[in-house]
Amino acid sequence: MIGAPRVHHRVVDSTNERARALAAAGAPHGTVVTAHEQTAGRGRHGRAWMAPPGRALLLSVVIRDLTEEAALLPLAAAVAVSEACEAVSPVSCAIKWPNDVWIGGRKVAGILVEGRPQEGWAVIGIGLNTEAGPEDFPEELRPAATSLLMAAGVAVPGEATLAALLRSLEGRLGDDPRDVLEAWRARDALRGRTVRWSGGEGTAAGISDAGALVVEGAEGRRELDAGEVHLLDR
Ligand code: BTN
Repeated sequence: MIGAPRVHHRVVDSTNERARALAAAGAPHGTVVTAHEQTAGRGRHGRAWMAPPGRALLLSVVIRDLTEEAALLPLAAAVAVSEACEAVSPVSCAIKWPNDVWIGGRKVAGILVEGRPQEGWAVIGIGLNTEAGPEDFPEELRPAATSLLMAAGVAVPGEATLAALLRSLEGRLGDDPRDVLEAWRARDALRGRTVRWSGGEGTAAGISDAGALVVEGAEGRRELDAGEVHLLDR
């Protein structure tokens, strides 16, 4: 079951770091680490992840018994986060490949999957801005960031959001990959938009069944399976 056992820290370096240590020590599938505050939160591409204490959900989940579908974990997690947000708040979420969750073109949640596939485990780290206000984001991030409170105008208790999130993760992580792909594609924020990636520019044309981003550029169609893409027609 996703969500038990649960370890909660008032202050911790990074819930992903703690969950990785627990996984390496044999913690069971579904173990969750949560925190009120992180001092060294990690984001994708080696960036730091900042969140105002108590105004964001910060959690990491230990996943075991990875199958060949593990490549879709980051996508399944993004679908689950989107569904949980919509279950607790009157918002509508889209996903920017591979797993940024957006509301109205602004990022409300980020997901960092780390793991040791050779040891059969991974950790899904989720940072979801629940009650943050504009003043909680550094000025340069303000135009691109949001929270459930900012987007919907109503505060939802963090524990209720966590419960919804654990439920949706339980469902989506055990889901048929075809259903995960269909749900992800229905939320694709990039499809048909002009994007730039390291090495080119073109139009986003959906995702492959392996979860790669399909892009069409001057040199034809290709699949990107890692790296960052930026929207050019914001
Ligand atoms: C991103 O860059 O978009 C991913 C951000 C992931 C942040 C979360 S917060 C909880 C967990 N612990 C971490 O150190 N990172 C993830």
